[in-house]
Amino acid sequence: MTTYEQEYACSIDQPETFWAKQASELDWFKSPETILSQDENGMDRWFADGEMNTCHMALDVQVANGRGQQVAIYYDSPVTGVKKQLTYEALLKQVATFAGVLQQQGVGKGDRVLIYMPMIPEAVVAMLASARLGAIHSVVFGGFAAHELAVRIDDAQPKVVVSASCGIEIDRVIPYKPLLDDAVSIAEHQPSSCIIYQREQLKAELLPERDLDWEKLVAKAQAVPCTPVKSTDPLYILYTSGTTGKPKGVVRDNGGHAVAMKYSMKALYDMNPGDVFWAASDVGWVVGHSYIVYAPLLSGVSTVLYEGKPVNTPDAGAFWRVASEYGVKGLFSAPTAFRAIRKADPDAELLKQYDLSCLKTVFMAGERLDPPTYEWVKNLLSVPVIDHWWQTETGWAICGNFMGIDPKLCKAGSSTLPSPGFNVQILDEAGLPMGPNEQGSVAIKRPLPPGCLPTVWGDFQRFKSSYLSTFEGYYVSGDGGYRDDEGYVFIMGRTDDVINVAGHRLSTGEMEEVLAGHPAVAECAVIGVADELKGQLPVGLVILKDGQTMSEEELQAELVARVRQNIGAVASFKKAFIVERLPKTRSGKILRKLLRQIADGEEYSIPSTIDDPASPPEIAGVLSSHGYGTDRAAK
Ligand code: COA
Ligand code: AMP
Repeated sequence: MTTYEQEYACSIDQPETFWAKQASELDWFKSPETILSQDENGMDRWFADGEMNTCHMALDVQVANGRGQQVAIYYDSPVTGVKKQLTYEALLKQVATFAGVLQQQGVGKGDRVLIYMPMIPEAVVAMLASARLGAIHSVVFGGFAAHELAVRIDDAQPKVVVSASCGIEIDRVIPYKPLLDDAVSIAEHQPSSCIIYQREQLKAELLPERDLDWEKLVAKAQAVPCTPVKSTDPLYILYTSGTTGKPKGVVRDNGGHAVAMKYSMKALYDMNPGDVFWAASDVGWVVGHSYIVYAPLLSGVSTVLYEGKPVNTPDAGAFWRVASEYGVKGLFSAPTAFRAIRKADPDAELLKQYDLSCLKTVFMAGERLDPPTYEWVKNLLSVPVIDHWWQTETGWAICGNFMGIDPKLCKAGSSTLPSPGFNVQILDEAGLPMGPNEQGSVAIKRPLPPGCLPTVWGDFQRFKSSYLSTFEGYYVSGDGGYRDDEGYVFIMGRTDDVINVAGHRLSTGEMEEVLAGHPAVAECAVIGVADELKGQLPVGLVILKDGQTMSEEELQAELVARVRQNIGAVASFKKAFIVERLPKTRSGKILRKLLRQIADGEEYSIPSTIDDPASPPEIAGVLSSHGYGTDRAAK
């Protein structure tokens, strides 16, 4: 049996041999001979001369290998009371036909298809149909508002938008069409058509010159075959929050992605063909792309598509019910989901109703797995609980515990060891490697393994300046952390203005832009403050323009509405407080880390570069009057 150490060493010392072997597990139209090369930007690329199609590997090959009658998707929707099973054969038929629909709308290789849909099988069908044509999909999470959607439409410039009439949040029907209409009216780029899937809960009114009905198009369409693409051709663009207001379009290629997905499904999650995997996330996030859709299907695994919440749909036993009903072997979710379950049912009384003998491992990611949540889940389920660290940019885990190779003992607070292919280093400010237990910037020495982004859509310079130019030869993750004496990696949080709210990645910079647009606001800062349930919650600190007399209550209500309107409900922006001044360096940079420390009641030291040393205690006073932190006085 290969040990983790052997596997890891081989991946780092002989990356081409290692990844050529993993690539040979997939069914290529033309097997790659060039394993690792560089593109015109000097970026490392995998399998450049390989030809393939991701949809072919995920569906046609599975059916050809005898998996046609196996369930590909278990759709479970407590919010509508619908349960449905789609076999690989049925899914292939739907996807090939919907690819025919897209083709009729002029979609071909390299065109973009924007998908704005709730957690319904049609979302997966649209993604795979786009892949089948060699087109590039860009899924936008349903919780984002019109403005965010418009920004993505302008950046990706989709030929076609695919959407649904509504989403359902517990018991609230969220109409999607008005959001889509607003977004298209704000956007400069105009899609040539919008295909709308009409749900029973709410029928949308279609615009005759632009909107088309999904069902009607499908009824007239012909199934189409897969279009071969190059390994390095993009499969999708997924926008993620950066430090500025403009989200970054993370590009994922076809070949490297397929190889990374298939490899990780076995090596990390220990899933074999025929097993059932459930990533309780959303197709709008990277976890949904990788582990609801692509990795399970590329591996002949059955996947669960769950349109519900961990609590309130209808109760905190929902996860246990779904896992038991479909024989889930591996369950993946964000710690916040388990914190929500624990809050609603602290002794997990509801668990007693279900047989969970099928469940072998629980995987967590998306935010730091706090030790109390880790212990609670581990003791409750008596299965390994695996924390693994990753990002939209990498598409799969940078660190984890490799259950399919050689499971290691877990340490609470650690995402265990670097994944094969990821040369993880802790660097100091000068870019020099740091010793054990020293905290620094977590970076990955290039080449990045297959599956990681090769660029930001349409903006290689932004990719370079955001990730590659800080330390020569390294990709910087934006997370801080350390490795202990045994090499275990501990991720301690972002070193930039990105926050994590209920496992959703958000930019405080983007919220600041929205707040700053309010006519009464002179200056503002948004910080992520620790929250027991959601991990972090955004809080705005606002300086009013001279002469403004708005009350704090009134201003807060308007700012909350603005963020909801511009970014979306998912931002969970509920608090804004008026302050007289904000602590800044002499060069005018707001000291956000200091603000966060004050709000969280952590000890803080006032930097010598501060412009106005009186401001931190003043802010502490404001925050403590609202129940945040305590002024632990500067040292
Ligand atoms: N469409 C429309 N609105 C959405 C939405 C969607 N797809 N997803 C979330 N929202 C809305 C919610 O309804 C809520 O609105 P409200 O402020 O009017 O109540 C708001 O956005 C905030 O949502 P959320 O942060 O998810 O809070 P919640 O209270 O609804 O649920 C949890 C809390 C912990 C149960 C939930 O966040 C959860 O299950 N998290 C797991 C996260 C996850 O899977 N992350 C992916 C990485 S693995
Ligand atoms: P996203 O791109 O939405 O997946 O968010 C990525 C960010 O979430 C990372 O940069 C981390 O800050 C955080 N994150 C994800 N997984 C973990 C984890 N297991 N432990 C700590 N932080 C995590």
